[in-house]
Formats: sequence, structure tokens, C-alpha cells
Amino acid sequence: MHASLRSHIEKLMSQNRRETNGSTYTVPSPHLYPFEWLWDSCFHAVILSHVDITRAREEIRSATSHPLTNGLLPHIIYWEEDYRTHNWGREMRGDILTAAWQKDGTSVITQPPLIASTVWELHQKAEDRAFLEEMYPILKAHYLALVTRRDPTDEGLIGIINPDESGEDNSPRFDHALGISPFHKPEEHLEKRIALVEKLTECKFETRICMQQYFWIKDVSFNAIVLRGFEALALIAETLGDYGDRNLFDGYRRRTGEAMRARMREDERFYSLEGSGDEKIRINTWNLFMPLYAGLLTKKEVDTLVERYLMDEKQFWTPYPIPSVSYQESMFSEDDMWRGPTWIASNWFVYHGLRRYGFMKEASLLAQKSVALVSESGFREYYSPLSGVGYGTEDFTWGGLVIDME
Ligand code: GLC
Repeated sequence: MHASLRSHIEKLMSQNRRETNGSTYTVPSPHLYPFEWLWDSCFHAVILSHVDITRAREEIRSATSHPLTNGLLPHIIYWEEDYRTHNWGREMRGDILTAAWQKDGTSVITQPPLIASTVWELHQKAEDRAFLEEMYPILKAHYLALVTRRDPTDEGLIGIINPDESGEDNSPRFDHALGISPFHKPEEHLEKRIALVEKLTECKFETRICMQQYFWIKDVSFNAIVLRGFEALALIAETLGDYGDRNLFDGYRRRTGEAMRARMREDERFYSLEGSGDEKIRINTWNLFMPLYAGLLTKKEVDTLVERYLMDEKQFWTPYPIPSVSYQESMFSEDDMWRGPTWIASNWFVYHGLRRYGFMKEASLLAQKSVALVSESGFREYYSPLSGVGYGTEDFTWGGLVIDME
């Protein structure tokens, strides 16, 4: 990586660093996102592991510092900002949205559970048994809460109760469940999300009831990340000498993998599922490539997926890949968040998935394209997959993930 890009990344990570009551953490962007987000903090720890491993561990410590009473880690910790009145800009009605999400300084929903694999990754970079011991009970409670609260039929797939839990707030994967047309206006989307939070508040976030009545998605990406989390927990438990827990999480890993293959797969493609009837959400999004990250495909399936979808210029290999939604889908938009734009974090997942299967050339091309986006358009939230123009907020940290793509 070019030295000047590396120093930009280090500078941004320092500028966005905050300290509250002895906890240090990084805000994704000081403009639109001045709080701490769960999966963002995992991305930050990955970036920081290339810069300063102690800071990487601090980031994880703060992200795990406010578990909800049921053990789940919340998707936002608001720390000191006055979150109720913060102007979220753009389409956010901060007063309503944050008030509905919040509970004693945190939100009440969660985000993709990347935390266990990040902790394991940090341990690979620099062994620290004491850190593993400190984190393990919190991680274990988080993943067990996902198993007990988010899989009411006990079949191995973890459900989300709100689009925001996927990290892809307005992905078209959730349009049908929200009861919204694929061609809605951004305000309509926000209204539906607010209405959903109100319904979830009414059913007191009692997930078995809320999921069956309002919103229950078994998402490919979320479950691929859960699976990697179980894998990491088994390794952490083994390292700590807890063989009972190692077997427990190994079992969960196998069960989720088998359920994903049995219920989400159609040839080489995996689709997210909606509702108790497991209806397949047949929209081609970048999630098609998440099973690589989870190691769920045969070599032959990966060959087909890469050739037929990833490297196809009309679908995913646009001039600045990977669009969050296939260029061929009718609702594709080059500038609307998770409805088409390229995000560096999704590229990072796919990069590592490709390498896992030995697609070194494709992975390295994707890394080059990602570096080009950040170098040409700066640290933006997302980018046009067609022109590479940056959109969304500025000084956004995720571009720093290119440091982990070489
Ligand atoms: C946006 C993204 C979400 C992220 C948050 C903070 O809402 O969709 O994934 O966690 O911003 O960066």
C-alpha cells in the first residue's frame, strides 16, 4: 500500500477517536455517525490491528461494554452525545429513530455479530490470553442470546427483527417484509422503519411474537457472520481449555452451516429467507458472495459463482465493483445506500472469501479497485459502482479496511 494512503488512514482513525469515562472508541464519521456502532467497531479493530494492537483491543472493549440484560450487544452505544436531539441529516429523523432505538444510552437492537471473529483475529496477530479471558463471557452471552432468542423454531438460522440489524438499512432484500414497493421514496422507507420500531416496542421486543407478526428475516450475510462467530468461539474456548464450550460452538457452527445449505441454497446461489414459511428473497445482492466468507460452498460452486455473477460486467463486475445490488436488478440505483452503491466493507468480506477459496487473482483485483475508490474519491460512506464518485457522509472510516486487503 502506498505510504500516503496508509498515513491518511492512520490520521482519520486518530481524528475519529473519542474517549468517554476511560473508554476509547472510534466514531464511523464525526458528521453523520457520532456514536459507536457494533460492526463498525469490529472494522475499526481490524484496521487498528495494523496500526496499534492495544488500540484495537480498546475498541473491542468499549464495543462490548454495554450488553443488554438479555446478553445481546446493542448496535449503538451513544456515549456522551445528546442522541435524542442530534441531527442525523439526510433522511434521518433522529428524534424519533434514536428515541425508539434507545434504552439507557444504547439501542435495543443488534448488528451483524462480527465481534467473536474479530477478537480471534486480534489474537492471531498478537497473542493475549488475558484479553481472551476478559472477552469470552461477554461474547458467549451475546451468541447464546442470538441462539435462544432469534431462532424460535430451533432450526439453526438466526433471524433479524429490523433491517438495521443487517447493517444494510435500506437493502431491497427487506422491501417486501416492510410492505414497501421496490421503487419507493427514501422518506417512505424511513416511515416504514419507524412504524416497525413502534410495533416492536408494542410487542416489547419479545422476539418470538414480534418476529412471527412483523418482521422475520433469516439473512444470508448475518448468518454467514454468525457462523464465523461460532467458529471463532470454538477456537477461543479451546484455547482457554474449555472443551465443553468448544464442542458446543462447533455444534452450532455445523448446524447453522447445514441449515444455510439446506434452506437458502439454490444451485450455487444462497438467498435470504422471509417469515415462518422461509420464502426465498430472490434479489441478487452482494450477499450472493457471503457464503465464500463462511466457507459454505464447494470449489465447483465457487467457480460458477465467480464466473457467472462476480466477474460479469453486467451484474457485479462494474467499473468500480462490487455493487451492493446487481446492476441488472430493476431497483438498482448508483447512489442510494444499500440499493446499488459499492461499500468498502462488503468488498472486504468478499476479498477474504475469495482468498479462502484460492481466487488470489480476483481478490487482488478487488483490492486494487477498492484502493482506487478511496484514493480517487476519498473516505466516503459509499461510491457509485459505475463512475466511482463518492456519496454519503465524509471522513467515514470503512475505507481504512483497504489496509487489510493486501
Ligand atoms: C449506516 C450503515 C450501517 C453502519 C452505520 C454507521 O447506517 O448502513 O451499516 O453501521 O451507518 O456507520
